[in-house]
Amino acid sequence: MYTKQKYPKSMIFYHSLLAVLMIATLVLGWVMDRENGLMFFHKSVGVLVLVFGVLRIINRMRNMSNIPPSVNHGTLHLVEKSVHGILMLMMLVLPIVGWLVSNAKGYPVSVFGLFDLPNLMGKNEALSETLGEMHEVGANVFFFLLIFHVVGAVYHKLKTKEDVISRILPW
Ligand code: HEM
Ligand code: HEM
Repeated sequence: MYTKQKYPKSMIFYHSLLAVLMIATLVLGWVMDRENGLMFFHKSVGVLVLVFGVLRIINRMRNMSNIPPSVNHGTLHLVEKSVHGILMLMMLVLPIVGWLVSNAKGYPVSVFGLFDLPNLMGKNEALSETLGEMHEVGANVFFFLLIFHVVGAVYHKLKTKEDVISRILPW
């Protein structure tokens, strides 16, 4: 059922914030190399994804009864909910695996140079390779699901004329 009812303001805030932080971390991951120093920002912004991701999940649980009804039914409803679920999971899994990759490579995780996160594990070259591959696969899964998520939203606006995008935009 489509209603113009917007998402609660706090959910709109977290959705926008996490979209900006996650897309920034992804792009930094793509463009960083050993020389350009962007790894530092990739990790620091990635840690913000984890912190605000946890706050977002708590906020979502507190707002369950105010969420507007989904526009999809049957299989499509299941697909929509699964994509949202995996995107939310990626918000936590990508930073935690990234944190493990850094520690396994023998580096601490500095947050904007202000302080270091505690080490989750000791140096382990062999495991760092596997974790690095998991992190890369996870980032690709996130990217493709994000495209699917956005295309789904645009499809509703153009084809079914259900303006779901305006329900989650801050304006
Ligand atoms: C939304 C969160 C994140 C996304 C989307 C993301 C994405 C990426 C991408 C696309 C790469 C390049 C993969 C490659 O081509 O090898 C990468 C590499 C890396 N990321 Fe992240 N990342 C995230 C969070 C983090 C965090 C929080 C940390 C550390 C605290 C981190 C640490 C690393 C490290 C160490 C590498 C290099 C891996 C290697 O050389 O094998 N990432 N990340
Ligand atoms: C440009 C980027 C994005 C656009 C245009 C977009 C669009 C939308 C739209 C239109 C909805 C509302 C659907 C409805 O009315 O039922 C929505 C909800 C949602 N989106 Fe996105 N989105 C974007 C980025 C992201 C990212 C990066 C994530 C990663 C976590 C994400 C996760 C979610 C989730 C979990 C929901 C369900 C509401 C909630 O629990 O907060 N979105 N998005």
